[in-house]
Amino acid sequence: MSNDKYNLSFPPNFLWGAACSATQTEGASLEHGKGKNIWDYWYEINPEKFFNNIGPKDTSNFYSMYKEDIKRMKEIGFNSFRTSISWSRLIPDGRGEINQEAVNFYNDVFDEFINQDITPIICLFHFDMPLAMQNIGGWENREIVEAFAEYAEQCFSLFGHKIKYWTTFNEPIVPVECGYLYEFHYPCVIDMKRAVQVAYNTAIASAKAIEKYKSLKQDGKAGIILNLTPSYPRDNENPEDLKAANIADLLFNRSFLDPAVNGKYPEELISLIKENDLIPVISDGDENILLNNKVDFLGVNYYQPRRVKAPSKVWDSNKPLMPEAFFDYYQWPERKMNKYRGWEIYEKGIYDIAMNIKNNYGNIPWYVSENGMGVQEEERFINNEDIIEDDYRIEFIKEHLIWLHKGISEGSNCFGYHIWTFMDNWSWLNGYKNRYGFFRVDIENNFKRSIKKSGLWFKKVAESNSLEISAK
Ligand code: NOJ
Repeated sequence: MSNDKYNLSFPPNFLWGAACSATQTEGASLEHGKGKNIWDYWYEINPEKFFNNIGPKDTSNFYSMYKEDIKRMKEIGFNSFRTSISWSRLIPDGRGEINQEAVNFYNDVFDEFINQDITPIICLFHFDMPLAMQNIGGWENREIVEAFAEYAEQCFSLFGHKIKYWTTFNEPIVPVECGYLYEFHYPCVIDMKRAVQVAYNTAIASAKAIEKYKSLKQDGKAGIILNLTPSYPRDNENPEDLKAANIADLLFNRSFLDPAVNGKYPEELISLIKENDLIPVISDGDENILLNNKVDFLGVNYYQPRRVKAPSKVWDSNKPLMPEAFFDYYQWPERKMNKYRGWEIYEKGIYDIAMNIKNNYGNIPWYVSENGMGVQEEERFINNEDIIEDDYRIEFIKEHLIWLHKGISEGSNCFGYHIWTFMDNWSWLNGYKNRYGFFRVDIENNFKRSIKKSGLWFKKVAESNSLEISAK
């Protein structure tokens, strides 16, 4: 054992920052001309579904506190930040009239980022379908694809001179799985065929938004944010386990990764969909839309791996088909857990993603757009100076950065690392249960923000563009 320390340096201009989303932080969800989205509506009809009955109405109040918040970001060394535009704030009915108050708000927010020298990365859709669009079928309806492309074009025209990094979607697989398979998002449907249609239309919507961006010839880049959960088989030597892991990868990762980056679906996925009678409605010309509108860059949200094994029994054909027909979940005996949340922590996953992108996706420029650790009841860890001592979060980030650094040093084209998230925020059905922020948000006390130990630690990493490691 020695006490020696050394530094891992990251590439010049590396992005350091965090991500959040409009619905999760803005608050003012029924004010300033905003239309309702599916979250406002779902909370209205089923408030009991939301942790502690807290809905999207007042989430963290970024709408009125953005100036101080952006200053706080600067104080802890951020040079970049991702958030989203709320479609239903900008265009209350999803299509048609623009809400001028929203234009003013987003202009002010973006100006503030730029004044503080923080590069904004702006996402167009983070789980928050305008209710008016959901009422006519949401992503199942091809009309919504057109509506989204129009909305995207509006955003590029209104804000493109300020925003140089756009992302079409955040985790597009999530509304598919949560909304059409597992009932965590409205409309709580369980139907794999409809889920496939939703996924397909979303991929086309993303490509169409990119097509609009290209046609405007602006001087930025357009990408997508995907949550990649590497699939690991129980046994690398067992063909049935390998098959199960491959199917999980096709369904949950490659269903968006391949069309977005390679401009086409994997043949194996197409066969799987055909064999199971899940083919979506496809329009003429879709193939070319995908092929001609690949993303310029990729954001990757990484939290945990997916460990699977061959299914233990044949799927009961009386039950609706689910992805779990093709694999069983598997608990790795050596797994390390986030005991506060019940998720496996597998830092090497970030390296495996880095190498997968390098080797199989043309080494496209990418960044870690979310990584982080949710913990309940963090008040337990408040010290005498009123700071939450979240050493577990520091450890989590550090270990992931070590693996990321290894991926970069082996040639993976990663240009940044963003944490989820800057301040504790509202997390859909989980409300404020799990806290992820560098800043604590006291929801009992006017959303007062206070720095955590991890925020102070991150400042050093970001400002020095390097990670200090103790030699073991
Ligand atoms: C993924 C999503 O982008 C975000 O909305 C969510 O709150 C975090 N991960 C944490 O679960």
